[in-house]
Amino acid sequence: MSISAQYGLIGYPLSHSFSKKYFTEKFEKEQLSHCHYELYELPTLQNFSSLVANTPNLKGLNVTIPYKQSVIPFLDSLDEKAQRISAVNVIKVLTNNKLRGYNSDYWGFQQSLKNFLAKDFPNEQYNGLNALILGSGGASKAVQVALQDLEIPFIVVSRQLTETTISYEQFTHYQDSCRLLINTTPLGMYPEINACPPINYDCISPHHFVLDLVYNPEMTLFMQKCHEKGAKVQNGLEMLYLQAEKAWEIWQKI
Ligand SMILES: NC(=O)c1ccc[n+]([C@@H]2O[C@H](COP(=O)([O-])OP(=O)(O)OC[C@H]3O[C@@H](n4cnc5c(N)ncnc54)[C@H](OP(=O)(O)O)[C@@H]3O)[C@@H](O)[C@H]2O)c1
Repeated sequence: MSISAQYGLIGYPLSHSFSKKYFTEKFEKEQLSHCHYELYELPTLQNFSSLVANTPNLKGLNVTIPYKQSVIPFLDSLDEKAQRISAVNVIKVLTNNKLRGYNSDYWGFQQSLKNFLAKDFPNEQYNGLNALILGSGGASKAVQVALQDLEIPFIVVSRQLTETTISYEQFTHYQDSCRLLINTTPLGMYPEINACPPINYDCISPHHFVLDLVYNPEMTLFMQKCHEKGAKVQNGLEMLYLQAEKAWEIWQKI
């Protein structure tokens, strides 16, 4: 009989959890009856270390809002991608009980993007492709590092104008040169399904590729409006599954 292995999710609040459902079903399907997944709702990180110390056979944790950045000081080391992104959504408990942080959103996004572009950009050659990233929050940081590694130049569109961002009003000037649009804002996510990023949709054409990180609803208003202009569109559902599988791979690796 295998030794019990405990996994879980920390965040606050944790009313709807994709991860718990995903891993519970995975453990059932793959007959991993020694594996268990729990929700650890933490109003603050004050009890994080005691949660880790007092949870027998803890092997790994997922991290969600609002702790993807604030959990970093509690960890012993960071994987190179998590370090560059400055955010962690997966923690692995190493055999010496040290904690190492990873960012599986990076992997999920990058693989989903590669799949999305595969037909039009064979052999992962993205020469001439430039991106506009809408939003500058946590997911945007993972997207930025993933695009850097694919050598796809990008510009971040934000409500806050800084040296490294442009405004939504300036978006129009970049419409032709940037064929890849990525929404990393929560605009359009259930239940606010009638919201969408405030870009000029008249600028969208059939030569655009539009990726929305939002996955509920499956066809967001943003995707719908871009699709109407002939753009190729994809939601964040595949990324969601890929980042969960990457977490599992990280936890299983010796
Ligand atoms: N598919 C997946 O696997 C996956 C993974 C991670 C996240 N997500 C989704 O990605 C979205 C963002 O998540 P996150 O963790 O990055 O959140 P976050 O850290 O709160 O960042 C969201 C960013 O969106 C922009 N934003 C927020 N409200 C806005 C508004 N009313 N109008 C315009 N811009 C607004 C802000 O950027 P500015 O201040 O720069 O405007 C903000 O920094 C969520 O919907 C989440 O579910 C999906």
